Amino acid sequence: MENILVAGGAGYIGSACVEYLLDRGFEVVVFDSLATGHRAAVDKRAEFVEGDLNDREKIISVVGEGNFSGIMHFAAYSLVGESMENPGKYFSNNLGAGINLLDAAVEGNVESFVFSSTCATYGDPTQVPIPETEKQDPINPYGESKLMFERALKWYNRIFGLKYAALRYFNAAGATGAFGEDHRPETHLIPLVLQVALGKRDAIKIFGDDYPTRDGTCVRDYIHILDLAQAHMLALEAPESGHYNLGTGNGLTVKEIIDTAREVTGHAIPAENAARRPGDPPELIGQSERAKNVLGWKPEFENAKDIIASAWEWMREHPDGYES
Ligand code: UFG
Repeated sequence: MENILVAGGAGYIGSACVEYLLDRGFEVVVFDSLATGHRAAVDKRAEFVEGDLNDREKIISVVGEGNFSGIMHFAAYSLVGESMENPGKYFSNNLGAGINLLDAAVEGNVESFVFSSTCATYGDPTQVPIPETEKQDPINPYGESKLMFERALKWYNRIFGLKYAALRYFNAAGATGAFGEDHRPETHLIPLVLQVALGKRDAIKIFGDDYPTRDGTCVRDYIHILDLAQAHMLALEAPESGHYNLGTGNGLTVKEIIDTAREVTGHAIPAENAARRPGDPPELIGQSERAKNVLGWKPEFENAKDIIASAWEWMREHPDGYES
């Protein structure tokens, strides 16, 4: 029986991953500060430890006592816009606090470490779809903090032999039957669009319609959280340490997402143009052949309509998000 520690397992992607692991026979301990996560998002079958990665002694003792074969690290701040206003928050938490988890992994003799990285580490890419060989040159502190942690992982691998996989997600989206997206405040496109359909907002703002893309709005590669969860499980057994893109290879513009949501919900979803949001690259689409070839990853959600439909189903069942 494999025992896995999931840091950030009460968050959006972490909660889906915990459920996925439990469904496949893993034992899971969730470590989460609940700063952005929700207690109700922790699968009841998992053990829950409330704690902050800044509490170095606590995480070292939890990992030391747990006999974990793997650690998955989702515990980070992840808002591009916020990172442009408050970079220190991103460097101290996403890098500084994360190092405590790395030290805990080494002291606890953990075999493998799976890290939530991001396509935001590429910045404004020179080729799209982006291969893993693309230069990493972030254009916001969020991406920079994740790149710094990737670099730390390389050193922990070299010095201590800690095996790792850095998974560079594109835009996580969708919901499982039980777990979905509930950020407070919400800033992500798909949940905001669906909140308009639910009658909780009057209109969706389109941040910039003069980008060099097919309709002037930003293009993103939306990947289902269950497909991310599958990749995390496979990455525990990765043949060698390294990094992997996780995207569908298809990009949708902001306007296309709104149109798809109109189709899924049957709601008119009024939209209005607004200024660009600082730190947004025009186009991010991933080339994920490496995860398929090396990890044996087989994503199941291929189109945005199914992804949005899963998010819509969860939102209709949880119109106010998780219970506090
Ligand atoms: N957008 C709008 N209106 C909104 C919200 C978003 O037009 O009300 C636009 C954004 O400007 C962007 C796109 O929709 O062009 C997607 O924005 P999100 O905020 O949903 O997602 P981001 O692409 O900014 O960021 C997300 C995660 C990051 C991750 C990144 C990778 O928050 O953690 O995807 O692309 F790194």
